[in-house]
Amino acid sequence: MAKMLDGPVPGGARSVSWPWYHHVLTNELTPDAKNLLTTYSNVPPAELEAHIYSIRDKAWGIFPWPCVGEFWFLSFGLAKHPLYRNMVLPRLKLGQTLLDVGACLGQDLRKCIFDGAPPDKLYASDLFPEYENLAYDLWRDQDRLSPGHFFTDDILADNQIFTSGPLMTQLGPGQVDIITITMFLHLFNYENQLKTATRILRLLSHKPGSIILGSQAGSIDFGEQTLKPPFHRSGDGSRRTVFRHNPESFETLWREAGQVTGVPLKVSAVLQKPTDFLFGADSSFDFSVKKRRYLTRSETRRLYFSIMRT
Ligand SMILES: C[S@@+](CC[C@H](N)C(=O)[O-])C[C@H]1O[C@@H](n2cnc3c(N)ncnc32)[C@H](O)[C@@H]1O
Repeated sequence: MAKMLDGPVPGGARSVSWPWYHHVLTNELTPDAKNLLTTYSNVPPAELEAHIYSIRDKAWGIFPWPCVGEFWFLSFGLAKHPLYRNMVLPRLKLGQTLLDVGACLGQDLRKCIFDGAPPDKLYASDLFPEYENLAYDLWRDQDRLSPGHFFTDDILADNQIFTSGPLMTQLGPGQVDIITITMFLHLFNYENQLKTATRILRLLSHKPGSIILGSQAGSIDFGEQTLKPPFHRSGDGSRRTVFRHNPESFETLWREAGQVTGVPLKVSAVLQKPTDFLFGADSSFDFSVKKRRYLTRSETRRLYFSIMRT
């Protein structure tokens, strides 16, 4: 964890003057988010905004991610994936297992439950243990999603630590039918993406048809990119990069991970421009939110993908 924390955390890291700390909600509280919070979580409508600000500020105290400062936890990335309605949800209703890696406040799991998935086979994992209880505070659903569905695990931990960690020992290798990684892989450089991809493939069920899916920041031109300050340097002062993919480079990454792990797979990836976004996705997605995002560049696109075991 220390390795992660020495990244984007200079002195005063929790300051609310960072540009990715949005002081007020604008269009993030979509009808979908409002519906979940009032119907599933039973938050009285008059208390909604105060509830969101209070949880967000606690999450900011844990780590000042852009996804926290910009309220991404109100956006259901998995539900916007083109395979959600016709593949993910029906499979979950038949009892398949789902793991959300890098789940943060667990909004995607809650949306699945709200849409009818049985909670007993849904799991989340993240680097920060505090997210488990904070997610319960946000979604008020400890009566429906019992403790034990959240694993604190560093996907980049040294081999021995990862192998003996909760994901590999409590959930187990080769056990998960559906793994979702929304806005996750793009946090890392190519080397760490490859490490992450091989570990995710090790968790994936051996049954053909098992699937990894998600979305993340992509780019027309692939390659390592240096982020804007203060994310551009590691704690030791070295230059820190993240790898941005187009569909071709994304496929290369997973083919390489498939070779390392011996997993046969089929990769699909597509870049979405704001104008042709209605690719089976949630039409309530509002790109004006994206315009305000601190790390977005003009060549940034949303990359939707799936990796299926064949
Ligand atoms: C950009 S947020 C995305 C959260 C969520 N999936 C979403 O779509 O809103 C990335 C998440 O990955 C987690 N994370 C970062 N590095 C990690 C690591 N090495 N192992 C596990 N989780 C990590 C962060 O704590 C954070 O919650």
